Amino acid sequence: MGVLVTGGAGYIGSHTVASLLERGEEVVILDNLYQGHREAVLGGTLVEGDIRDTGVLDDIFTKHSIDAVIHFAANSLVGESMSNPGKYYENNVYGTLSLLEAMNRHGVKKIVFSSTAATYGEPERIPIEESDRTEPTNAYGETKLAMEKMMKWFEHAHDIKYVSLRYFNAAGAHESGKIGEDHNPETHLIPLVLQTALGKRKHISVFGDDYSTADGTCIRDYIHVSDLADAHVLAVAHLRRGGTSGIYNLGNGQGFSVKEVIEAARKVTGREIPVQIEARRAGDPAVLVASSKKAREELGWNPSRDRLEDIIESAWSWHQHHPDGYGGKDNK
Ligand code: UFG
Repeated sequence: MGVLVTGGAGYIGSHTVASLLERGEEVVILDNLYQGHREAVLGGTLVEGDIRDTGVLDDIFTKHSIDAVIHFAANSLVGESMSNPGKYYENNVYGTLSLLEAMNRHGVKKIVFSSTAATYGEPERIPIEESDRTEPTNAYGETKLAMEKMMKWFEHAHDIKYVSLRYFNAAGAHESGKIGEDHNPETHLIPLVLQTALGKRKHISVFGDDYSTADGTCIRDYIHVSDLADAHVLAVAHLRRGGTSGIYNLGNGQGFSVKEVIEAARKVTGREIPVQIEARRAGDPAVLVASSKKAREELGWNPSRDRLEDIIESAWSWHQHHPDGYGGKDNK
């Protein structure tokens, strides 16, 4: 039996496809290539199409013998979700409905879902546990929470089991050097810091140094993308052994401030990395750190690439070899 990966040409999706292929799984990738990259798909069958297209979904489930879906396909920019929430409800919420309806039509009963720490909003306590309050402060997080709830009701009515994985801050790149992070526009801290190290940007903007943290900058829990990918493979295995539905945080449980990330990047790259302090970015909680105890205990997840310098080192290697991402000349 094979796995359908929606959004499998994106950043975390492509690393998960790589992990599935390494384990000998048959993989079908459905991606509309809006944010994804054809070059990021290292194997399997790539179908260029959209999860909102029921014909494409019916075709895939008819032609391939799929027993589980890993669902990444979604828009994920917090800022854009605030100015254009309709886009997020249309692609994320309606897209997930279209996918779940197709799974139900074809008797596919397992789904692993790409969720986010943005479902929590401003945390009640640190580290955050899965049972903590979910009150998203942006439309992106709100749509991901709606998608999780939709899966709960589809389980109730149609017995489709789900595992929702709430990621904290994904970073780093695959050890092969073949795939890594390439967003357009890029908004994430580590790639922007490394583009600054490469001289592609004049400085890195630090969004606020007046938070109530030790150095005044925001603290985040950075997790290697390959550790995230492994969690998806374990979640599929959990559902295949008859495991129950559930929601799991994925993070290292250790927080680093924006200034600490920049300092670590200076060490790794040996470059200066000029900084400019700017105003706070709307909707940024001061501290987001995960408790991943549940994923470790129930899924057997054991993130092994947890040193911040190692995560940055792997991203640096990707950025040096692909300074223009997948569009760069160095890309094979
Ligand atoms: N930051 C800067 N300068 C930049 C970019 C980011 O100072 O140029 C800061 C941000 O303010 C934040 C930290 O660096 O404090 C990390 O920012 P990212 O944009 O890299 O990541 P976020 O924590 O904002 O977002 C991540 C995911 C989102 C998800 C969110 C959950 O990328 O998809 O966590 O809160 F919604």
